[in-house]
Amino acid sequence: MKGVILAGGTGSRLMPLTKAVNKHLLPVGPYPMIYWSIMKLEEAGIKDILLITQKEYLPQFHKLIGTGEELGVTVTYQVQPAASGISDGLSYAKRFAGKEPFILLLGDNVFEDSLRPFTERFEKQGKGAKVLLKEVNDPERFGIAEIDEQHNKIRSIIEKPEKPPTNLCVTGIYMYDAEVFSYIEQISPSKRGELEITDVNNLYIEHSQLTYDVLTGWWVDAGTHESLHLASTLAYQALQKGQEK
Ligand code: G1P
Repeated sequence: MKGVILAGGTGSRLMPLTKAVNKHLLPVGPYPMIYWSIMKLEEAGIKDILLITQKEYLPQFHKLIGTGEELGVTVTYQVQPAASGISDGLSYAKRFAGKEPFILLLGDNVFEDSLRPFTERFEKQGKGAKVLLKEVNDPERFGIAEIDEQHNKIRSIIEKPEKPPTNLCVTGIYMYDAEVFSYIEQISPSKRGELEITDVNNLYIEHSQLTYDVLTGWWVDAGTHESLHLASTLAYQALQKGQEK
């Protein structure tokens, strides 16, 4: 399976840290944020990685990651002309993905679980898509899943709901078959002017092709000052635990 990481965006919620530096290069523990996504993919045996960002940030990523060799992976780069949403960014992965299923990570998601059990389950699933959920205390910030418990399915996903039906957040860890690129062509920009990944996931639900799993370890969307700080604290703790073993 191949991996795609989205590492663009303006990082507006992290100003002024992101005025001169791309969000994904900010420190999370002792590493730049982007390392954590790459390390999680590498750990799951996913070595062929496409990194998508805006043109102005490419030199910074090239300098830090280059071909990916030092991190044990192969990284290639693709430009997303403007930060116009996750689905827009993903559309630039079409050639890289080809006909194969792949995993998409949002580069600002930092988490504890290994990806391997989930990618293995998705490979067995063979087609469609899978999302990973996590319980959160601030569901208004995220895409939130409404669950049909009887059938163990997601009934719908609501992006940043005013009245969240659950506190189950759809994390920025997604697995797709190649059909995703035709679904992206079917959606239109949302109120915030972006092509939303939630609209694509809801199309998979309409076709009864979206499965889910729930993360058991910690998970942080490090897109705000508070959550960036939390991600750093948790990352240091995780590294310490690893060293104690
Ligand atoms: C995005 C998605 C949202 C998801 C979140 C996870 O939100 O739109 O559905 O729950 O990532 O990190 P954004 O970071 O664009 O606000």
